[in-house]
Amino acid sequence: MAPERKLFMTGATGVVGRALLQRLAGDKRSAGRNMPAVVALSRNVSAFPEAGVRAVHGRIGEPEGWLRDLEGTTEFLHMAALTGKARAADFQRANVEGTRSVIEACKRAGVRRFLFVSSIAATYPEHDAYPYGRSKLEAEALVRESGLDWAIVRPTIVMSRRAKIWHSLEGMASLPVVPMFGGGHVRIQPIHADDLALALEAWLGDPSLDRGTYDLGGPEVVTFRDFLGRIHRRKKGGDATFLPLPGKSAIAVLKQLEKFLLPVLPMSAGQLYSFVYDSTAKPNALSERFVAGQRNVDTMLDELLKYG
Ligand SMILES: NC(=O)c1ccc[n+]([C@@H]2O[C@H](COP(=O)([O-])OP(=O)(O)OC[C@H]3O[C@@H](n4cnc5c(N)ncnc54)[C@H](OP(=O)(O)O)[C@@H]3O)[C@@H](O)[C@H]2O)c1
Repeated sequence: MAPERKLFMTGATGVVGRALLQRLAGDKRSAGRNMPAVVALSRNVSAFPEAGVRAVHGRIGEPEGWLRDLEGTTEFLHMAALTGKARAADFQRANVEGTRSVIEACKRAGVRRFLFVSSIAATYPEHDAYPYGRSKLEAEALVRESGLDWAIVRPTIVMSRRAKIWHSLEGMASLPVVPMFGGGHVRIQPIHADDLALALEAWLGDPSLDRGTYDLGGPEVVTFRDFLGRIHRRKKGGDATFLPLPGKSAIAVLKQLEKFLLPVLPMSAGQLYSFVYDSTAKPNALSERFVAGQRNVDTMLDELLKYG
């Protein structure tokens, strides 16, 4: 008989975490597969609606509070992160020091398998004004140097009705004139949260993938302009008119402004990086298993826009 598995997750309440929990709960209900018992760490949630998920209250930076809950863990999945608009010091604390802290906790508790969800933003050629991307890159290095049985996944842009980024892009694409930072020629490869969850589930159950870093994107690469144009057409019934805006120079200006005005700015310099650098996934042993069954961009958009 296969040994019992116990998965300890951080970030279970986020966009990706919710999709993964639903996936795991669905599979637990169906076939008699070797599904893990799931323990989920959260600062806010004291119970999960998915059957068989135990909530543990706590913060990633304060492992003393949940160290005992690690007992028997066969896979530690670290997804918790500060995302969106925030100060560099906060990204550093949550994403770099937070990762250091959970790695140390795993070592103390004797947990061997450590799976880290990074971001395609770690692959951008520079992160001068992008502390989130820099923090993910630094966290990746800590994971690789941890001495644990590690693996890293780098999702591209994740699409879900729960995702703030989806609602921002939908709002932008619905304007009479659609702002297009950097010309819109960069390439993106959006992945639906449920397709990502399927790949993450397989990754968790397959130690042969350990000591590898895997980009994960959807099956279709499109330009940002094409992507926003397709949303506009669905919502407004015609072709979008684009307003070209600078990319790199807008980043330089925002970088200066956010020193004083970050809370009131509509976006940070870092959030413009995906308009100036490609966010595409290199094919790999994990992505190749799933690419055929994933939602393409049109299917994804039809689903996301189904209810308005
Ligand atoms: N969404 C995307 O497009 C995308 C793309 C590439 C990579 N990623 C990566 O995928 C992962 C999940 O992203 P997401 O979009 O699902 O994130 P999200 O929706 O912003 O949720 C963030 C999660 O992190 C947890 N968290 C943050 N700080 C914590 C702390 N100090 N202690 C404990 N938990 C903490 C939150 O949990 P509580 O608030 O419940 O404590 C929440 O579950 C992240 O590592 C992100 O960098 C996301």
